[in-house]
Amino acid sequence: MEKFVINGGKILSGKVKISGAKNSALKLIAASILADSKTTLKNVPKIEDVNIMIEVLRTLGARVNVDTENKSVEINPESIDSYEAPYELVRKMRASILVAGPLLSKFGKVKVAVPGGCNIGSRQIDLHLKGFEDMGVEYSIEHGYINCQVESNKTGVRLSGTMVNMDFPSRGATENIMMAACLARGQTVINNAAREPEIIDLACFLNSMGADIQGSGTDCIVINGVKSLKGTEYEVMPDSIEAGTFIVAAGLCGNKVEVENAKWKNLQVFYSKLKEIGVNISIIDENNIRVDEPQSTYNPTNISTLPYPGFPTDLQPIITVLLSTIPGVSIVTENVFENRFMYVDELNRMGANIKIDGHHAVIKGVEKLSGAPVRSFDLRAGAAIVLAGLVAEGSTEVSDIYHIKRGYEDFEEKLKSLGADIKKVS
Ligand code: UD1
Repeated sequence: MEKFVINGGKILSGKVKISGAKNSALKLIAASILADSKTTLKNVPKIEDVNIMIEVLRTLGARVNVDTENKSVEINPESIDSYEAPYELVRKMRASILVAGPLLSKFGKVKVAVPGGCNIGSRQIDLHLKGFEDMGVEYSIEHGYINCQVESNKTGVRLSGTMVNMDFPSRGATENIMMAACLARGQTVINNAAREPEIIDLACFLNSMGADIQGSGTDCIVINGVKSLKGTEYEVMPDSIEAGTFIVAAGLCGNKVEVENAKWKNLQVFYSKLKEIGVNISIIDENNIRVDEPQSTYNPTNISTLPYPGFPTDLQPIITVLLSTIPGVSIVTENVFENRFMYVDELNRMGANIKIDGHHAVIKGVEKLSGAPVRSFDLRAGAAIVLAGLVAEGSTEVSDIYHIKRGYEDFEEKLKSLGADIKKVS
């Protein structure tokens, strides 16, 4: 098992370049199933979750070539001859269920393992299934698998376009239904759709394959089904959660840190919260941001996570670390996931003073954190604990770092290049 050992207290400075977005790349890889020919994706991050999604596609029979050096992935879906996403892969990564929409759309059937819970909550998939059902899918759950099949109708295996009203703007359900609708007969309208920039990226990608999708980025997405889609070449958008992580790291212990490819417009609520706190951010241009030493002491604040364009739940653990070092009381409310404060006990082991009350974290800022052996609970909590280690006094050992590798490309190398004292040990 590998660990990070961090000696805190170093000042970060220099440039860091943000990689391709995990939460876009995974969907684009799944969506490439829909085409009748080869797709090439560029700027694909070298992270564990991408490897798992590639494994899922290979299990289905797709031919996938990875060019690690150039960060490009070539996917040929013509050889797909299996319609099953197995439990071994779905349990490693829930996003594997995003092959369901494309497989249903193209082949009219899919068997996918029920994902089960994860470290941040129970994470239902009822909205995905309800959307499929609205489009004419029959499903049954047996032996831990969901078997979906398009009801036999005059149009063969094609799904039927319809109106899908979502109870909650789930990102995954929006994406799965949007992909399912691409080859459906007629028009599908998704109301109360998720609005993340990654949804726009997926819609642009699908449109470049020949799909007809309008309204992505709003809460009403309209998809006119087409007969077939062709492979395309597309560059994955930058990862705004990775950008947010480095910006908070710079706010904690940085000076003159330039974050390239930050695309700050994708996270406006997050940036205005950082300004309220007093983080000294300057916008260089629409892609790049600089963080300098604070001009005065930071202010505590209150934050509530919400679906986009609200404050992103994925940056909740990250900002909590910053707030834990700011004198005064801050309250963080988690509204998206039911169990996303598991890491707080680890932070308290480092000297933070945070009490959890239901879905609120009451944070009393402390003067300093102190290094300790701590665990990484999930992807973002793991990154948050590393940030705590960067600013803590003494040495912090972070175990279970495989969570971090799921979603951050070269995390320790990037931090090291900014001057952090962090190393990986076995
Ligand atoms: C995606 C992101 C994840 C991010 C999350 C919220 C990927 C691979 N992951 O996850 O990093 O934290 O969006 O921004 O893109 N829900 C239901 N029923 C459903 C679907 C969801 O109740 O059918 C609930 C979930 O339990 C959760 C909430 O809706 O409480 C948000 O889930 P969703 O937006 O679907 O997140 P994911 O797409 O799984």
